[in-house]
Order: sequence, then structure tokens, then C-alpha cells
Amino acid sequence: MKRARITGTGSYVPEKILTNLDIEKMIDTTDEWIVTRTGIRERHIIADDQNTSDLATIAAQNALDMADVSAEEIDLIILGTISADYPWPATACIVQENLGAKNATAFDISAACSGFLYAMENAVAQIESGRIKKAIVIGAEALSRIIDWEDRNTCVLFGDAAGAVVVEAVEGENGILSTHSHSDGSYLKLLYQPGFGTRHMASAEAFKSRNYFLQMQGSDVFKVAVRMLTDVANEAVAHNGMTMDDVDLFVPHQANIRILEATAKRLKLPEEKVYINVDRFGNTSGATIPLALDEANRAGRLKENDIILLDAFGGGFTWASALMRW
Ligand code: ACO
Repeated sequence: MKRARITGTGSYVPEKILTNLDIEKMIDTTDEWIVTRTGIRERHIIADDQNTSDLATIAAQNALDMADVSAEEIDLIILGTISADYPWPATACIVQENLGAKNATAFDISAACSGFLYAMENAVAQIESGRIKKAIVIGAEALSRIIDWEDRNTCVLFGDAAGAVVVEAVEGENGILSTHSHSDGSYLKLLYQPGFGTRHMASAEAFKSRNYFLQMQGSDVFKVAVRMLTDVANEAVAHNGMTMDDVDLFVPHQANIRILEATAKRLKLPEEKVYINVDRFGNTSGATIPLALDEANRAGRLKENDIILLDAFGGGFTWASALMRW
């Protein structure tokens, strides 16, 4: 059986930085409250003339360049996003066109903050089955366009970004060792965007209620997130006959610092093995993991044969992991 291996990583964040001090001028909050509760100090915000597909395209091109793979060689593009350019068709099709990846099948996956790992699982399965040879897996979000900038409970948490990886069929022991994914729709209303699907079509009333924005019950999400992130990380390691001591770097979804610290503590992972950049980017949902992975890769933190554990939790609820030998 072929193994799927990441051969290139890429990312992109928009230029504009919105600091907590900037947000203090917009709503009733403080830098101190945001930093203490979330660890977030600033986030990047998409430009007026950019869309999610633009962020995704740049990240994907960066990953292709690193892998030294041409767009025409790509068989599959999967994009995890909850802030697509359009309700349909898929933003992945726009990215395909932008890249000139004319031989690729392209589609989006909606699994919120787990979107990138859900997409990765699908690409890995297609590579391992022999169906395809090369894929681009992307997580990209323009969450600033779907959050309520008058709701201090949510607007301080999120940012815009994209990350991507090229995954190729290889021989040998290095690559993605396992993926796991789970869902539980009973938690749907703790974290969701009520409009504008078929339940709440665009209307004057819907606009007035502001229910077309992302909505969240923060403290309930927090508790379940820590439990599921811990469970799926343990599942990944046990599945491969390893223990947490074997993990060289843990790259979790960057929701907020307290979720990260609580999860790492439960997993007994020391601080130096946990990758954290939520302070600079906030929660960029499907983009957090590939963005962090690309940063870590370009900083030389991923060494050949290192065991890397990726771990995500998000709306749905959805949660997922991937374990790889770099
Ligand atoms: N500035 C100042 N005060 C605020 C703000 C703000 N930005 N937001 C809320 N408050 C107030 C609330 O109104 C409340 O005031 P009250 O007591 O007078 O009613 C008070 O702060 C405490 O609110 P809580 O919701 O209890 O605050 P909590 O300590 O739970 O922190 C937070 C809120 C940061 C959202 C936390 O629940 C959390 O981290 N939840 C996880 C949610 C998350 O990360 N979601 C991301 C998507 S899911 C994912 O990616 C995993």
C-alpha cells in the first residue's frame, strides 16, 4: 500500500492586523480581558478586495512551490472552510481555476475547525487506495465576514488565514500513519451560523435579528472541546502502538490558549512540545492547523522522522486527528 506524505506546506495571512487595542475602540472590551481569557493579542483581517479563495490560492501555491510539484500534476483539491466565497459552488473550484490545476477534482468540506483534518483524511484515503497520487489539502477562512462585530462574546476570538499542504503517494515509513474523525450533531446549536441556509433564508427579518452571524455558547464549547481533543489525541497515539512520550510536536487547533493548555495538561505534554501561535492569529478555524504546520516547517521545527500529532475540534461538533512520521 502506498503511504500519503506531506511534501510541501504553505500559508498566507492578510496584511491588515487588528490588535486587541484596536478592538477596545470598537466594542466594550479590554486587551486584558481578551488576553487573560483567550491568549489572543492580534488577528489578521482580510482586505475588502480579497475573498477566501484568494487566501487559499496563495497558500496552495506556496505549498506547491515547496513540494516542487506543478498544478497540472494535482489530482485532487479539498478545501476545509465555513466561510466560502459562495454558498455554492465550492470555493475549491475557484482555487483550482486560479492555480491552473486542470486535472484535479475539487470540492469543499464543511467541518468547521476540523475541516482541514477531515479534508486530509479524505485525501489520505484516496492516496492509500491507489485512486490518486497527488492532492492539495487546504484550510482557509475569512471569518471576519461571518462574525458579528457587535457581539463581544465572539468577535474577539477569530481571524482570517489560509494554510495548505501538498500530499503525495510515497513508498516507505515516513508519512501519515493514521487519521481519525468523529461527529456529534446533538451539539449543533452550541456553535453554528443560523443564516442563510434553507432554514433561515435571507430576509429583512433575518437581517434585523442578526442571526446570520456565527453564534456560540462559549463555556459549553470549552468543556466539550477539551474532552474531545484529548480523546482523539489519545486514540491516534494508541492506534499506532505509541505513547504521548513518542510525540515530538503537538500541533492542535488554535482555538484559545486555555483550551490548548488544558488539553496539553491532560495529555501530559510539556510546553515545548506544543505549537502555539493563537496569540498572533486568533482562531482561524479550518486554517489554524495548516498555518501552524507551515510556520513550524519553515522555522525548521519539523525534523525528519519526528512524530507530529495534529488535533482539531469544531462546530458540528466535529473532532479529528492525524499522526505522522515527518
Ligand atoms: N470583553 C469583556 N467581557 C466579555 C467579553 C469581552 N470580549 N466577552 C464576554 N464578556 C463577559 C460576558 O458578558 C460575561 O459577563 P457577565 O458575567 O456580566 O455576564 C463575562 O465576560 C464572562 O463570560 P463567560 O462567557 O463566562 O467567559 P468565559 O470565562 O467562559 O470566557 C470564552 C469566554 C473566552 C469565549 C470561553 O468560554 C472560551 O474560550 N470558550 C471556548 C470557545 C471557543 O474557543 N470557541 C471557538 C470556536 S470552537 C473551537 O474552535 C474549538
